[in-house]
Amino acid sequence: MKILFLNGPNLNLLGTRQPEVYGRTTLADIEAMVRERAGRLGDVEIEFRQTNQEGELVTWIQQARGVVDAIVLNAAAYTHTSVALRDAITSAEVPTVEIHLSNIHAREEFRHRSLIAAVCRGQISGFGAQSYLLGLEAAVSINGAR
Ligand code: DQA
Repeated sequence: MKILFLNGPNLNLLGTRQPEVYGRTTLADIEAMVRERAGRLGDVEIEFRQTNQEGELVTWIQQARGVVDAIVLNAAAYTHTSVALRDAITSAEVPTVEIHLSNIHAREEFRHRSLIAAVCRGQISGFGAQSYLLGLEAAVSINGAR
């Protein structure tokens, strides 16, 4: 099974970016955690990417069609603004799990609305770096392997 992790803008700064909100774990640490857990799950191949560009996320989601079994997506700020990402998720027809480190519903009002939530299979929000491992579990279970 192939699972694509996609990370949006500013997540390359994890570790130093508002640690009181996002913790001190870097994105590289999170990737290592995900790969370690995936290794223990068995037949799970991980692709892990980050970009600060909306269009790049759109392209990667388009390219995932028919190629990956699930997408785990932290769209970061684009969660709250991007119709293009929503349309890409709909078009790709790849089951997608929306994840966030912070609890977006407990933060500023503008973060409460996710434009992608309705086209994702579900949302995991507020568990820090663990949100990525929960996203992995969700992606695997969607595919019925466990
Ligand atoms: C985030 C929450 C978003 O509101 C924010 O813009 C981010 C990170 C999170 O993981 O908590 O950049 O997606």
